[in-house]
Amino acid sequence: MGYWCTNLLTIVSILLLFPVINGWGIDGHLTVCRIAQSRLSKAAADAVKQLLPEYAGNDLGSVCSWADKVRFRYQWSAPLHFINTPDVCNYKYTRDCEDDNGEKGKCVAGAINNYTTQLLTYNSGSSQADNNLTEALLFLSHFMGDIHQPLHVGFASDKGGNTIDVHWYRRKEVLHHIWDADIIETAEERLYNSNVDDLIDAVQKNITNDWADLIPRWETCSLNKTACPDMYV
Ligand SMILES: *[C@@H]1O[C@H](CO)[C@@H](O)[C@H](O)[C@H]1NC(C)=O
Ligand SMILES: *[C@@H]1O[C@H](CO)[C@@H](O)[C@H](O)[C@H]1NC(C)=O
Ligand SMILES: *[C@@H]1O[C@H](CO)[C@@H](O)[C@H](O)[C@H]1NC(C)=O
Ligand SMILES: *[C@@H]1O[C@H](CO)[C@@H](O)[C@H](O)[C@H]1NC(C)=O
Ligand SMILES: [Zn+2]
Repeated sequence: MGYWCTNLLTIVSILLLFPVINGWGIDGHLTVCRIAQSRLSKAAADAVKQLLPEYAGNDLGSVCSWADKVRFRYQWSAPLHFINTPDVCNYKYTRDCEDDNGEKGKCVAGAINNYTTQLLTYNSGSSQADNNLTEALLFLSHFMGDIHQPLHVGFASDKGGNTIDVHWYRRKEVLHHIWDADIIETAEERLYNSNVDDLIDAVQKNITNDWADLIPRWETCSLNKTACPDMYV
């Protein structure tokens, strides 16, 4: 009995923790990474293929949630998944991009800058030995998803909507989790027969048709910057 109680407690606390620790859910990240990989230049696609861990084959999507899995092993990486503002509806890199200890750059925008800079050393022969570029790739592709989840840039006081209870149809959830997973999962169920590949195809179609005019703007990163995370916030 004691054994089961302990186990049940563990499971319950893992479930409770889940909304706090997760970025987009698995399918949100998978979708982002599958689409991103399909749009890479030849050089970038080759680099990604080289850098992906063997078990991933050549599928970036399958390892897009790796950063969530290592969050406990690499505790230093936990603050890199989000940004907290001081309960105001605007964001300033210099004010907000820091962890709980006030260490600057330790937020999702800082991490995108960091891992982009690291990946640009690929094939340069220089500091390649200093950084694990496989990890840089897995972090970057995950954080590009996280920064687009609206509640990953949110109020410090409600932990990005993690302390706000709402109902999603019949289920009680925290607001953060609605954005991480429920919206995507419900859309998948209702519109795509629970098939994530069909959701991905539908987004791909929109990108090549309805949204084609917007793409140049998405791809522009001005003023010689290597990355433009502030634009996505
Ligand atoms: C940059 O990447 C290194 C290697 O993963 C990590 O130790 C460091 O905390 C990162 N810094 C930020 C701001 O992401
Ligand atoms: C780089 O990181 C990956 C994923 O954590 C790991 O499997 C691999 O062994 C690391 N490579 C080196 C050279 O440390
Ligand atoms: C595709 O674009 C249309 C028109 O903007 C929109 O209604 C639809 O929800 C989009 N589908 C996806 C999967 O993004
Ligand atoms: C971008 O960088 C190049 C080379 O470093 C420099 O010549 C150019 O003036 C820069 N452009 C802007 C807009 O800062
Ligand atoms: Zn995340």
